[in-house]
Amino acid sequence: MLSNPDRAQTSSSPVIPPSMQSSSSPASSYLRAARGEKLAVPPVWLMRQAGRYLPEYLEFRAKHDFLEVCNVPELACEATLQPIRRFRFDAAILFSDILVPLVPMGIDLSFGKGHGPQIANPVRTVEDVTKLRNIEPRESLGNVLNAIRMIRAELPRQTALIGFCGAPFTLSAYMVEGGKPDPFANLKRMMYADRHTFDALLNKLADMVASYLTAMVEAGADAIQLFDTWSGILPDWEFRVVNLPVLQKIFAALKPLNVPLTYFIHGGAHLVGAMKDTGCTVASLDWRVSIPEARRVLGDNITLQGNLDATVLLADEQTIRRETRRVKEEGRTGGHIFNLGHGILPITPIASVEIMLDELRKN
Ligand code: CP3
Repeated sequence: MLSNPDRAQTSSSPVIPPSMQSSSSPASSYLRAARGEKLAVPPVWLMRQAGRYLPEYLEFRAKHDFLEVCNVPELACEATLQPIRRFRFDAAILFSDILVPLVPMGIDLSFGKGHGPQIANPVRTVEDVTKLRNIEPRESLGNVLNAIRMIRAELPRQTALIGFCGAPFTLSAYMVEGGKPDPFANLKRMMYADRHTFDALLNKLADMVASYLTAMVEAGADAIQLFDTWSGILPDWEFRVVNLPVLQKIFAALKPLNVPLTYFIHGGAHLVGAMKDTGCTVASLDWRVSIPEARRVLGDNITLQGNLDATVLLADEQTIRRETRRVKEEGRTGGHIFNLGHGILPITPIASVEIMLDELRKN
């Protein structure tokens, strides 16, 4: 159980109209909801909110390579701010990728046109794991940290800035498979046949993740999110044996920073109970998870984030409004940050995002 004194005071209080909120609450509605406050209108941001559904992003990307945008602070800053300017989201998420910190560790990463990430030197043996460098993010990821400083200086005060990283299991999936991990044959072979190497890899990644996220908060990130996209392939018992110890290590290291710690799993409806044991303070749910059920399992001390199905934004106006209202209503019983259940799809019409926001922001 978390013992956040702010949350203990606010978790069972009724919805407070913004005009009556105490001036001592942090101004950011994202931070307030993350700390468990119930708000009449939940804060909203969208996973992959800077991306190919935005015409201004497509225009910008025509001039710059993806990894160039990640590595040049001015470019990362511009991409981060594009969706904030257009939609006034309550949180900005740093423009980068979960695979970026693997490059200084020694991973040869590229993003080819139309076919996701590719790794030319997959990690398969204990020697491969030993060769991975232990990095000091303040030195080898200084460009990302400078982007955070620049973005924080540009953002309105009430807009929270989220720093992020991939969780060790998900990063290891890309590293071992050499790209898009599905169907996970090499990864699971290592997990079952060479557990020592697998554990060494996860622990090496956990050290990187904890120090990188700490450096992001020091640089100005107001909150962090850990993406564990692929851990939903594990059953609950195995998640607890293989993955939970490194997650607990990471969140315990970050707890003294006193910022919201969000944990996301894709396809993890069976792992909601285990999410509680990670030490996260916000659980980011995909669209298959029932919010009332997650609230029952996770209790009042964990804020819920999510979980509109991203494909609803491809539907007609009535459906978008109905589903947005449903998720908003379901979230009302506690701290809730409105988001999608996974990243926004590149084919999403801008008008659909506007309809969703219009419905959500009605008091
Ligand atoms: O959310 C944001 O707007 C912030 C930036 C962000 C990106 N990737 C930018 C990106 C974040 C938080 C991520 C996380 C990420 N990256 C995850 C975890 C979340 C999830 O989606 O499950 C994963 C698994 C990756 C790995 C990754 N990066 C893949 C599989 C791909 C290719 C698929 C695709 O969407 O093209 C990427 C590329 C990527 N990362 C793009 C963006 C905007 C598209 C690159 C482009 O502009 O062509």
